[in-house]
Amino acid sequence: MGAGRTILKTQVGIVGAGPAGLMLSHLLSTSGIGSIVVEKRDHETIRTTHRAGILERGSVRMLTETGVGSGVLDKGTRHEGIDLRFGGESHRLDFEDLVGESVWLYPQNEVFTDLAAARARDNGDVRYGVSDTAVADLATDVPKIRFTDAAGTGYEIHCDILVGSDGSGGICRRSIPAEARTDNFIEYPFAWFGILTAAPPSAPELVYANSDRGFALISQRSDTVQRMYFQCDPDEDPAAWSEEQIWDELQARVDGPDGFGLQRGSIFDKSVLKFRSYVCEPLRYGNLFLAGDAGHTVPPTGAKGLNLALADVRVLFEAVDSFYATGSRDLLEGYSDKALQRVWRAQNFSYWMTSMLHTRADAGPFERKRALGELGGVVGSRHGSAYLAEAYTGWPNA
Ligand code: PHB
Repeated sequence: MGAGRTILKTQVGIVGAGPAGLMLSHLLSTSGIGSIVVEKRDHETIRTTHRAGILERGSVRMLTETGVGSGVLDKGTRHEGIDLRFGGESHRLDFEDLVGESVWLYPQNEVFTDLAAARARDNGDVRYGVSDTAVADLATDVPKIRFTDAAGTGYEIHCDILVGSDGSGGICRRSIPAEARTDNFIEYPFAWFGILTAAPPSAPELVYANSDRGFALISQRSDTVQRMYFQCDPDEDPAAWSEEQIWDELQARVDGPDGFGLQRGSIFDKSVLKFRSYVCEPLRYGNLFLAGDAGHTVPPTGAKGLNLALADVRVLFEAVDSFYATGSRDLLEGYSDKALQRVWRAQNFSYWMTSMLHTRADAGPFERKRALGELGGVVGSRHGSAYLAEAYTGWPNA
């Protein structure tokens, strides 16, 4: 099958140039380990795709300690807490007071831009806009990535270790034989209607709101652009909603006696985001290792997706580095179990936040009152608040 293709040799072949793939390639280069990254999208498409924007302290530390943190430090905003809003009232969770930690608001596409610039500066080999990507010989000592570049030339990468960081829709996970993996997943009966608006912030920090009409999240991008979401049906059509309807729906979900009012502006982007919870086990097959959304996805309510991807990369980098430094495969063998510990904690947190904050269409009075009791239990107890704060800002030792 390699016939007619140009052979490229490298130590680590990486499919997917999102933050996970680029961060791994960047870290490997600091240890003198070679890698080639292939990506089907072009740079501009990834740079302009809207994704979530919360970085845990550990993620920020990883960026700064490896020389790619100036963007988040200069342009990101540190948030020392969030508001949980329900029953028409806001309850601030002060993360610094509760657990001595903060998070940073810095959108994922900016993280991508910073990492891509660092790879370009260091002459990293990242090939955007490739097609027909396939992986082969995964259970051998020479796993391979085949692809056609933007100019139409066919290539075959021969590597020692193949990393699948090609997202939830990628090819790597699907290349693991069905009998060698377990797909764990659940679907949710709702999605998020997301907007970008040209308006000043409505609140100093993020507001996670629960109401009889469903969940809403008031997030931010800058002093002049805001990101907001409200729970909707998975098959909702964004085009069917006028700006006024969107603002009225968002406002209805945060209404309360305190008069909290959203700062309205023109809406220049709207889309419906479907989500699910998914974990592939194990995150490995032979010499293929999955990282980030390629191996697991979480609903966005806990803001964990990018942070989990970077946490995977930290564990995987240490394993690959140790393999080249000592010849021992022990850490590679342990990668999946170690990464999955954090993944399952984050799955639980994301599931919990999602089910606590969203309102099911069929929820009767018991379920609504129970949900308010749960929220009251979180904000009314220092221990409850600290549990949420610790999970949201990122567990130190998982
Ligand atoms: C976002 O700003 O896009 C965002 C923030 C927090 C979340 C999800 C999305 O939990």
